[in-house]
Amino acid sequence: MSKRLKICINTGGGDAPGLNAVIEAVTMAAHHRSWEVYGIKSGYSGLLNTNEIVRLTPKVVDGIAIQGGTILGSTNKGNPFRMPVCNVAGECEERDLSDKVIENFNRLGFDALVSVGGDGSMDIAHRFAQKGIPVIGVPKAIDNDLGGTELTFGFDTATGIATEAIDRLHSTAKSHDRIMVVEVMGRDAGFIALNSGISGNADVILIPEIPFDINKVCAHLMDNELNGRKYGIVVVAEGATPVGGDVVTKGDGELGRQHVVLGGIAEYVAAEIAARTGKDTRSLVLGHLQRGGSPTTFDRLLALRFGAAAVRAIEAGKFGHMVALKSTEIALVPMEKALSADKRVDPKGDTVLTARDMDISFGD
Ligand code: F6P
Repeated sequence: MSKRLKICINTGGGDAPGLNAVIEAVTMAAHHRSWEVYGIKSGYSGLLNTNEIVRLTPKVVDGIAIQGGTILGSTNKGNPFRMPVCNVAGECEERDLSDKVIENFNRLGFDALVSVGGDGSMDIAHRFAQKGIPVIGVPKAIDNDLGGTELTFGFDTATGIATEAIDRLHSTAKSHDRIMVVEVMGRDAGFIALNSGISGNADVILIPEIPFDINKVCAHLMDNELNGRKYGIVVVAEGATPVGGDVVTKGDGELGRQHVVLGGIAEYVAAEIAARTGKDTRSLVLGHLQRGGSPTTFDRLLALRFGAAAVRAIEAGKFGHMVALKSTEIALVPMEKALSADKRVDPKGDTVLTARDMDISFGD
C-alpha cells in the first residue's frame, strides 16, 4: 500500500477567480488517495505563524469552486526570502525568514507543498524547491503573464468582465458623441486589453508591448469621425506607455518594481485626446472589479484540472515542476523554465494582426 501523504497548499500574490477551485480539486484528489491536506493561510505567513494552518476536508471545500477570492487568504507582500520586519519605531528592514518556513514545514511533517500563484509566487516556490522543499507550482494570474503555460486561470474571467464593461460603454459614448477611455489591468502584459478590446469593438487599444504615439491615436479617432463614427472607445492597459515615456504609477511602491501600484494612464490619455481633438472625453478605471466574483466555466475547469494534476504530480514525485496548459492538455514544466521568460503579447502575433485588420489602432 502506498504511503498516506500529508500535504499543504498556499495561495500567493493578488487573488484571481479560480483559486478556490484549485483548493477544492487538490483537497478532493488528495482525499481520494486517503492523504491529509492542510491550507497555509496568507501565502507563507501560516508557516511562519503555525496557528495559521487549517485542515482541508471535502466538507470544508464543498462547493467553493464557484466562489471568487481564496478561502486561504493571499498577500503580495509575503516573500519569506525578503520579509519586511518592523520595530516599534516603525523602522523596517527585509529579512530572509525562509529557513523558519522550512523548519516549520518539516516539523509539521508535511510531505509536499502545492504553491498557487503568479510569477512572484513561482519564484519563491522555485527557491524553496532549490532548498529541498518538495513543491509543485500551480500558475495563476489574471494578467496571463506567466511563462511555461499557454494560459493562467483568472485571465478568462477578468477579460470577460472587461469585455462586458466595454460593451456597456458603447451606448453611452454614442449617445453623447464622446470618446471613452477605459483602463484595464495587466501590469506589463497587454493580454486583457488586447482580448477585451478586440471582442468589445474598441477603436484603439494601447498595450505595454506597443508604445503609442498620442498623435496617431487622435488621428485614428478623427478619421473615424470623418467616416461617420462620432464616438470612440479606447482601451488602455495600465502598463501602456507613450513612445519614450514611462508607466503611470500611484506612488513609488515599497519593495521595488513588482510592488509599484500602476494606474492613471487612462486619465492621462483622455486629457491628451480632449486637448488635441476638442472631443468630449471621459476616462474610467475598471480596477479590482476584474478580479472579483465567480470564475467563468473556463477558468473554473482549468483551475480544477490544475489542482488535480498537482496532486498527480506529487504522487509521481515531480517536485520542482509547475502544472501548465499545453495546447488542450495539462503538462508539467520545470519551474525554472516557467520563470525563464515572462509571457507578453506578440506584436506580430495573429491576435494583434486581427485587430489591425479590424481597423483597430495601437497608436503606432
Ligand atoms: O497581478 C494582478 C494585478 O491585478 C495587476 O493586474 C495589478 O496591477 C495588480 O495586481 C494590483 O495589485 P493590488 O491588488 O496590490 O492593488
